[in-house]
Amino acid sequence: MTIRKIIIDTDPGQDDAIAILLAIASPENLEILGITAVAGNVPLSQTQHNIRAVCELAGFDAINVYAGCNKPMLRTLATAEHIHGKTGLGGADLPCPQMPLQDTHGVDYIINTLRKEPQDTVTLCTLGPLTNIATAFTRAPSVVRRTQEIIMMGGAYFEVGNVTPTAEFNIFVDPEAAKIVFNSGIPIVMLPLDVTHKALVTENRQTAIQALETPVSKVVANWTGFYERFDIEKYGSLGAPLHDPCVIAYLIQPSLFSGRFLNVEIETQSDLTMGMSVADWWGVTNRTPNTKFISDLNDNDFFDLLTKRLARL
Ligand code: RIB
Ligand code: CA
Repeated sequence: MTIRKIIIDTDPGQDDAIAILLAIASPENLEILGITAVAGNVPLSQTQHNIRAVCELAGFDAINVYAGCNKPMLRTLATAEHIHGKTGLGGADLPCPQMPLQDTHGVDYIINTLRKEPQDTVTLCTLGPLTNIATAFTRAPSVVRRTQEIIMMGGAYFEVGNVTPTAEFNIFVDPEAAKIVFNSGIPIVMLPLDVTHKALVTENRQTAIQALETPVSKVVANWTGFYERFDIEKYGSLGAPLHDPCVIAYLIQPSLFSGRFLNVEIETQSDLTMGMSVADWWGVTNRTPNTKFISDLNDNDFFDLLTKRLARL
């Protein structure tokens, strides 16, 4: 089995945190080179803090964590405390981390790592707005072609937006960054709301996680029990959607997921549809396909994988 070298770029958020835990619990699949914080669900000062606290929860405190961009490339930052709580990890706030934050800026770390590692051996796993990635590609265009693949949580098409009628949060926060990434030519696997809204922590799944009876599983269950309320009230969902863990699960077991290779463009001009990820699902344009758009998953097997891996921590 090939062990994929990854950089996780993230804005924890409870679902980001669970994705990080899943990656830590999967050393036979993933080598985490480093984790970069981006502003998103909560401000950068909090996301970089949360990453380190989550790593320490899992006893993974040797990993290097970097702070990246504190605002989108052009716009003012929009955050989501109303969903994730003031700290971003509402439901189970963690002890203040002792592990250090690295001095190197997250964007410089991404550039340096892509330059240092052999070409086509580093995968970028993006769980938040794409500001760090797009800034790295703009500042050092030569690293674009050195990137193996981008696996991203972001966008929506048939499921429509969760911030505006047309835009999903990670794209909405920094649409200009998303446009740069989708036009980069790098192989992209996109896990939009179309699939992540099918990865719901139902009551039975919540019970199965709680039944692990470990410090990690207790925290995870409290996180999902906290942030599910937004989706239950808005969508009548059967539980919290595990958006970001889908990115990591895709790398561990891609057969859980299915989708279509197509063109995705990002709206950056219209105020009405700003941040919309326009997916040419029926191939009606002559735009070149640039993305594997994931639309479905085997949710039972996804949760089986997640629960078994969390039991390792
Ligand atoms: O729209 C869902 C995405 O926005 C997830 O990554 C969540 O963590 C937030 O960042
Ligand atoms: Ca996120």
